This record gives sequence, structure tokens and C-alpha cells, in this order.
Amino acid sequence: MTTPTVTITDNATGKTSECPVLVPTYGPRVIDTKNLYKDLGMFTHDPGFMTTSACRSSITFLDGDEGKLFHRGYPIEQLAEHSSYLEVCYLLLYGELPTKTQFEEFEYQVKFRSNVHERVNHMYSGYMYDAHPMSIMVGVMGALSSYYHEALDLNDPVDRDLTAKRVIAKMPTLAAQCYKYAIGHPFVYPNNSLGYVENFLNMMFSHPMNTYTPDPVAVRALEVMLILHADHEQNASTSTVRLAGSAGANPFACMAAGMVTLWGPAHGGANEAVLHMLNEIKTPENIPQFIARAKDQNDTFRLMGFGHRVYKNFDPRSRVIRKVCHDLLEHMPANVNARVFDIALKLEELALKDEYFIERKLYPNVDFYSGIILKALGIPESMFTVMFGLGRAVGWIAQWLEMMQDPDFRIGRPRQLYVGSRQREYVPIGQRG
Ligand code: ACO
Repeated sequence: MTTPTVTITDNATGKTSECPVLVPTYGPRVIDTKNLYKDLGMFTHDPGFMTTSACRSSITFLDGDEGKLFHRGYPIEQLAEHSSYLEVCYLLLYGELPTKTQFEEFEYQVKFRSNVHERVNHMYSGYMYDAHPMSIMVGVMGALSSYYHEALDLNDPVDRDLTAKRVIAKMPTLAAQCYKYAIGHPFVYPNNSLGYVENFLNMMFSHPMNTYTPDPVAVRALEVMLILHADHEQNASTSTVRLAGSAGANPFACMAAGMVTLWGPAHGGANEAVLHMLNEIKTPENIPQFIARAKDQNDTFRLMGFGHRVYKNFDPRSRVIRKVCHDLLEHMPANVNARVFDIALKLEELALKDEYFIERKLYPNVDFYSGIILKALGIPESMFTVMFGLGRAVGWIAQWLEMMQDPDFRIGRPRQLYVGSRQREYVPIGQRG
């Protein structure tokens, strides 16, 4: 069978380029424009990468129009219902669900590496007492590169695999340490007799003076939240990790780069922004005024936690997390956060009925509900994006591993459409008008 092609013709010169059409398992076919410059002397121009595929990947498939999300072929709804976060980590890294023995070995390997070098604990004191936890996470994550650099051979699959396990193992410890540092509590060491999520909650909320027993409903809610954030194909932070990794950078430094991108409010910072917005709304009576602001083209305000670049129908993660969120709120005794939850539920109801949001296909995204869940779990708003990073770290490292094994792997280097000055002569400062 001949490879399908698309012919691109430069009408100015009559030259053509025969571009192979690549056929994916699912999703739109992809035009391979690698030879375009050679054939036509032209680049493609696509700010925001709206229609550009930058790599082959077999990890995650998502269909924004149909509202589908699969990891290694498994629908996210099934994983959220039946799986655990660590099992999803295994699936993302190795492509298959583990057998019982494989899972136990993987869990052991991860737990075994959950502690961080004692010197990492000293890094925190260099940060301002009120530093944003994401700024600390960027630093401490990057600092792990200093512990695993010389001995790490990026060309050795065993070393790369070890790196992936280290990232998954140490993320909860670093995240909990950021929180403990912020509130001035002593760090709590990992407890390997606990499950991954319980261990994280224990490091967050136990204290030498108190024992802490996590609520199983809270554990499950967080487990599902982490599963839903585990990977989302070539999003901004993952693409950052791949780009940094393509230069051969240390993988822990690449993770720190991913963390930087995640911090932005248009990406992982949205869950924190949702809570700020709910606090700003103050009472359900004020909601229509905020919806009106979001619709006003002359106002830069947007409803945080609404809309998505790819999901223009619904975000399948939102359906799952919405239920977890509603269940958790029902389970929790009435608490000081009840007002915020009432506002969130009312806002969701009103926006979903509003023509502006319906027409533009703006639905609550996963961050809208994850912020509420995290608030209900007692996690402070400043930690919300760290929590997103905790879940997403496996996606970053799985995509990094995939890239490192890809025969097409080369340094990522976009081109540009130069619109600056033409060549001109340097004028000495005294002669400039
Ligand atoms: N509130 C009000 N209007 C919105 C919103 C919103 N949250 N999101 C998009 N719109 C409007 C835009 O003003 C635009 O209207 P127009 O066509 O009349 O000009 C239209 O909907 C399309 O919006 P774009 O900005 O073109 O959509 P894009 O795909 O570029 O942006 C994004 C997606 C960044 C997520 C955007 O919807 C947004 O800013 N949402 C709020 C922040 C947020 O929740 N981010 C989390 C993303 S999910 C994640 O990272 C897991």
C-alpha cells in the first residue's frame, strides 16, 4: 500500500512538496512537513501549537470534541473507578497494567526511595518564610539534580527507570515539606507502612504531638484526583519537560522546568485561582455580577476553572471529579468552608445555564473541582498547584522516558517568522537623533 500524501504547492513558484500523511491509532491524521523547507524553502507557522504534533506518543490519547481521555488505551473513567494512583503510574511508565507481583515489586521500589537526602531538608531555610510553595518546589525539585547527576547515565535504560521511580517516590515528600516549612512545623519523614496517598497525608497533617488518621473517603478523593492529573499528553508543562530533556538536561532539572510552566494560572495555577475567585465572590448573591464580568469583552476577568484549550465538549475528568467532589462534600461534616462550597455549586449551576458559556462550550474543567476537593481536605490554596504537580510528575517522567527511547529523538528547536528590522548600520551613541 502506498503511503498517503498531501501535496503542498507554492503558487508563487509552482514548486511542490509531497508530504506523507501519518495515520494515528485515533485522532486526526497528521501531515509530516519535515521536508517542506528542503522542497519549498518554507516553514509552517502555528503560534500556540494549535495544529502541530511535536512527537509520536503511545501514552495518552485525548479527544477534545468527544470528551475522551485514555491512558495506554484505558478510559480515564475506568482507571478512576478501579485503579490506584501507583498502578496508574506503572501503566503510564511501562504501557501495561501490572500483575499483582509486578505491582508489589514496583510499590516496594517506589517506597524504598521515598525519603530525600537529609541535606535537602536544609535547603528550605533559604526561602522567605512566606515564599509560594511552587517557588520552593521548583528549587528543591531542581536541587535533586545535584544528588543524581554524575552517576546518572541518560543512555542507560536502567538509570532512566530508576530516575522515574525516584521522581514518583520523592514528590510527596518534597510537596509535604513545602507545606510544613510554610507553617513552621517539623518535617515528617515518610512512613513506608502506609499507602502512597496515606503517606502523603500523614507527612502533611501529622505532628510529633498528635497522631493523625486519614479519613478513607478523603484518601480515595485524593487518590482519584491524582489519577485524573497523572498525564494529559502534550500540555504546556509536559512539552516543557520534553523540550528541556531534548537538550540532554538532567531529568530532575527537567521536572523543575515542568513545575515552572505548571505554575502559570492558565495551566496548573488555575485550581488556586478558582479558590481566590470563590473567596472574592464572597456570597452567592454576588455570582451574577462575576458572571457578567466574565462575559464583558472589556474586562480581563475570566471565570477561573472554566474552559479548556482541547476539551470543547466536556472534560471527562470533570465528570469523574465532580462526583468525587459532591460525595466528599456530603461526607464532610458542615465546616468553615461550607460558604465557599455553596458559592462553587451555585456558580457551576448558573454558568452551565448561561448562553455565553453554552455557546463557547465553556464547562467547568478539572481544576474547578480539584480546588474544592483540596480545600475540603484541609490543603491550603497556595499548595493547590503543588498538588497538581504531585499527580502530574509521573506524566512528565513517562513522557521524558518515551522521548529518550524515540528513534526520532532530537533537540527541540522551533523556527520563527521574523518580523523585525531589516539589516542596518550601527550608529555610535553620540550620533543618534
Ligand atoms: N471565562 C470567560 N470567558 C472565557 C473563559 C472563561 N474562563 N475561557 C474562555 N473564554 C472565552 C474567551 O473570552 C473567548 O471568547 P470570544 O470568542 O468571545 O473572544 C472564547 O471563550 C474562547 O477562549 P480562548 O481564550 O480562545 O480559549 P483558549 O483555548 O485559548 O483558552 C483557557 C483556554 C486558557 C483554559 C481559557 O478557557 C481560560 O483562561 N480559562 C480559565 C483558566 C483555567 O481554568 N485554566 C485551566 C485550564 S485546564 C488545566 O490546565 C488543567
